[in-house]
Amino acid sequence: MAEEDEFSVPLIADLYTPPALLPIAQLKDALLYTIETYTVTIIVGETGSGKTTQIPQYLYNAGWTSNGQQIAVTQPRRIAATSVAARVAEEMQCQVGQEVGYSIRFEDVTSAKTKIKFLTDGLLLREMLVDPLLKRYSVIMVDEAHERSLSSDILLSVLKKVLKVRPDLRVVISSATLDAEKFLDFFTPDKDEVGESKPNEEYGRIVSIEGRVHPVEIQNLIEPASNYVEAAVDVVMEIHKSEAQGDILIFLTGRDEIDDAIDMIADRVAELDATKETIQLLPLYAGLPSEQQMHVFQRAAENTRKVIVSTNIAEASVTIDGIVYVIDCGYVKLRAYDPVVGIERLNVVPVSKASATQRAGRAGRTRPGKCFRLYPEGAFDTLEDATFPEIQRSNLAPVILQLMNLGIQNIIRFDYLSNPPSQFVIRAFDLLASLGAVDTYGRLTKPLGTRMAELPLEPMLAKALLNAPTFNCLSELLTIAAMTTLQGTAFISHDGNTKAADKKKRTFAVTEGDHITLYNVYEAFVRNKLQAQWCHDNLLNFKSMTKAHSVRKQLKHYLERFGVTEHPLHASDVLKAGGLELSERVRRCLTTGFFAQAARMKPDGSFQTVNGKTTLWAHPSSVFFHRKADWVIYHEILETRGKIYIRDLTTIDMDWLTEYASDYYKTKKK
Ligand code: CDP
Ligand code: MG
Repeated sequence: MAEEDEFSVPLIADLYTPPALLPIAQLKDALLYTIETYTVTIIVGETGSGKTTQIPQYLYNAGWTSNGQQIAVTQPRRIAATSVAARVAEEMQCQVGQEVGYSIRFEDVTSAKTKIKFLTDGLLLREMLVDPLLKRYSVIMVDEAHERSLSSDILLSVLKKVLKVRPDLRVVISSATLDAEKFLDFFTPDKDEVGESKPNEEYGRIVSIEGRVHPVEIQNLIEPASNYVEAAVDVVMEIHKSEAQGDILIFLTGRDEIDDAIDMIADRVAELDATKETIQLLPLYAGLPSEQQMHVFQRAAENTRKVIVSTNIAEASVTIDGIVYVIDCGYVKLRAYDPVVGIERLNVVPVSKASATQRAGRAGRTRPGKCFRLYPEGAFDTLEDATFPEIQRSNLAPVILQLMNLGIQNIIRFDYLSNPPSQFVIRAFDLLASLGAVDTYGRLTKPLGTRMAELPLEPMLAKALLNAPTFNCLSELLTIAAMTTLQGTAFISHDGNTKAADKKKRTFAVTEGDHITLYNVYEAFVRNKLQAQWCHDNLLNFKSMTKAHSVRKQLKHYLERFGVTEHPLHASDVLKAGGLELSERVRRCLTTGFFAQAARMKPDGSFQTVNGKTTLWAHPSSVFFHRKADWVIYHEILETRGKIYIRDLTTIDMDWLTEYASDYYKTKKK
């Protein structure tokens, strides 16, 4: 059987499809004509048909940048922006940062030469602060619009406004699913706006790419898997034993599961016959350092089967060739906002039908494939049709702050693609008011509110940073802000030697908590002249630490531009100033930003939110994982296997909560 397969199917799967052979190539002229003629073009096509990599090149070659303007292509994820830029640069035979570049938060790899720019949708929104009509662009392509990420939804709304003033601008919306009508309806101006003179004028067009997809055979489990990570591992071994060549893509929900699965598969592979085909294991998730991400796209060595263990990033954002088998756990980690408790969590929930179909489709790109769903067949019918837009399940404070800074007055009546629940909007205003970003009339305050909006940090952190001069700890807060943007990647943990890593980490740890610990790590890095070897010796991620260094510099520039500068006398080794110890000043300052994320440790070591309704646990990376504390504020919530973890904790006094956020805690308690 397997032998016959091997003869009938070219063994070297089209790991590199020449662009001219991609399904989109036949549509090139039609597409260019549509974009030229209509304001909005919606392009629908399977993942891998060439939308992201080819359309910008078509536009470039057709002269859309010859007047000095650029083409922007937005992505919901940073990893997609960087990897696609690398790919297109390669096809255009230039360095990334030359004709083709990318721009993500704190990392701008573009130059005066750049014509095609990949960027996150959130970043394009930020660019509007300095270029409100986005005049530097002739075409804006909003990619992966079907994902309905919070920023891309908002971006579409804002673009609709921009188009009213810039009829020359072209908007291309790309979507992997068939929800194109919704986008077109949204952009089509209302009749009364267009006026009687041109009632039938068409504003936009939908272009569909006929994908060349191969059939994918779906197999289901008879019983739901009690542990889908273990079930996935079993299926991998089964495929490896009895199915023909071809790479495997596993969909799990998060990094912890991915790490677990990789460990388990590695153990099982070690027992295999070493002379036969072997397995190369590759993780893929958003926080993965970029040099590691790239391995996923590379061809495996001979006699090696690639097994990629991914979050839903691989569902549409990135295309990996050579996948023949897909294992779908049937779940996805999605943002969910609880406006009552005021916390945003990442919940593991069943995928939608659209997602499940999309995941299965990843197996049929190269040749007929198979998809193994780790749930019973009947369960499919119970799934939602499509994933709820992120705007209906997010903390809206950051985006409302941005919209207000763009001059949008009426947030409630704003023209959303899907309306956010009004309760979410109210809650966001409450928080922004407590942070001092909006006044009692619901207007953005100056300068605090506008500065908070301008800083590329979440509002709570922005507030704490902007407040730092009051506490005489600006230098420390700059470092802490920069370090928290690393989202836990400073320490190398997954190298099989976590004990050693923990021990190293303890040398930096302080009883006040994680923020000051991170501060100590950074200070030591600077004292040791930013050396890679020093990082290596201390089990720190050099790339991440270098990133923190760059982020800190950039944040400092923002503050200098605002006229918020460090106190010249205030060197970090001055422990006493303003009567309070440095550590206390830093912790008080953090509380002015993070008061809404306070919790208290219970005797059993877990934490409870202020209203007593939710149980939280210190993340294993925290100094409070096995250490006593009382009241803390935390930076972030993560959820794994039904347990809610909090990351980056710092001890505070309960009194500080009412001292710095009296309104917030008054309205909540009642
Ligand atoms: O955007 P869409 O999903 O329609 O396709 P694409 O991302 O433009 O991918 C077109 C082709 O380029 C596929 O064959 C991909 O495998 C390949 N590609 C790649 O090899 N490396 C990347 N980083 C991105 C795309
Ligand atoms: Mg794409």
